Amino acid sequence: PSEEYWVTNSLSLYQGFWFPPWILNCVLTCQNHFQAQPSDVLLVTSPKSGTTWLKAILFALLNRAKYSDSDSQRRHPLLTQNPHDLVPTFELKLYLEQESPDLAALPSPRLFATHMPYSSLPQSVRDSNCKLVYLCRNPKDTFVSMWHFFNKMRPEEKGQIPIQECLDKFCRGVSSFGPYWDHVLGYYKASSEMPEKVLFVMYEQMKVDPHAHVRRLADFLGCPLSEEELRDGTVEGILRMCSFDNLSALEVNKRGKLSTGQESKWYFRRGEVGDWVNYMSAEMGERIDRVMAEKLDGSGLKL
Ligand code: A3P
Repeated sequence: PSEEYWVTNSLSLYQGFWFPPWILNCVLTCQNHFQAQPSDVLLVTSPKSGTTWLKAILFALLNRAKYSDSDSQRRHPLLTQNPHDLVPTFELKLYLEQESPDLAALPSPRLFATHMPYSSLPQSVRDSNCKLVYLCRNPKDTFVSMWHFFNKMRPEEKGQIPIQECLDKFCRGVSSFGPYWDHVLGYYKASSEMPEKVLFVMYEQMKVDPHAHVRRLADFLGCPLSEEELRDGTVEGILRMCSFDNLSALEVNKRGKLSTGQESKWYFRRGEVGDWVNYMSAEMGERIDRVMAEKLDGSGLKL
C-alpha cells in the first residue's frame, strides 16, 4: 500500500475512528474471530508511538527464562528477527494474512499487538482477564514520526508529502486509527477504571527510567523480577538488547524486510524525545498543543 492510503481521503470512518480500507476489513475479521485467553498479553499503540521498542521489551521480558544463560542468549530471536515478526499485530499481520489464523496452539502467554481503539477491540478481549499494555507517545513526535514513515512509502520522484497537509488532517482527527486523542483517551479511561487489566505507559517516561518501567511491566504482567534477577543484570540485559542502538544495528533490521513487505529499517529512525522541533515550526507545535488541551480537557491526562 502506498502512503496515499494513509493520508488521503481514502480513510474510512468506522465506530468513530479512521481506518485505511483494507485494514478495516482485518479489524472486522478480528472482531468476529479472535478469542482471547486469560493469559494473553496485548500491546496497544497509536501508530508510531514506539510499538517496535515495546514489542521487543515485552517479548524479551516474557521469554527471559528461555534465554537466561550466555549460550541461549546468542540464539535470542531478537538477534535475527524483527520485533514485528515476533509479536504479530492483529490487523497488520494475523488477520491480513488469514481470515481465521490458528492461534490456539501458540505457547502461553500469547503476545499480540494492535492499533485498534479500545471501543473496537474484540468483545472477548474486553470480557476476558487478559492484560493490555498501552504505550502513549507525545503527539508532536508521534505525528512527525508518522509523516516520515509515510514519506518512506512514497516513490522518491513524488517528493515529500507537504507536512502542513498532514498536520491539518491530524488536527481534525483524520489519521490512521485516529482521532489520536480519542485513541489515547479510550485506553487512559480504561486504565483508570481497570488498573489490573490495562497499564498506561508513556514513551517519554520509559526513556527517562527504563529500568523502573521494565519492573513495572513485569509486576503488571504477573511475572515480577526476582531478587536474583534484579541483582544479576537481567533488566539491564533486556534493555541493552532492545535499545535503539542495538536493534537498529542488527543485520536483520538494517537490510531485512518484514514478512508483510515493509523494510525493517523504516521502524528505526531516531528514537528520541522532542525531535519534532526539527520538522515543525513553533506555531505548528502550538497548534497541536491547543487541540490536545481542548480534547483532553477534564480527563486528567496532559500530553
Ligand atoms: P522516530 O520516527 O521518532 O525516530 P512504531 O514502532 O510505533 O512504528 O514507532 C516508531 C518510532 O519508535 C520511531 O520514532 C522509531 O525510531 C522509534 N523506535 C524504534 N525502536 C526504538 C527503540 N528501541 N527505542 C526507542 N525508540 C524506538
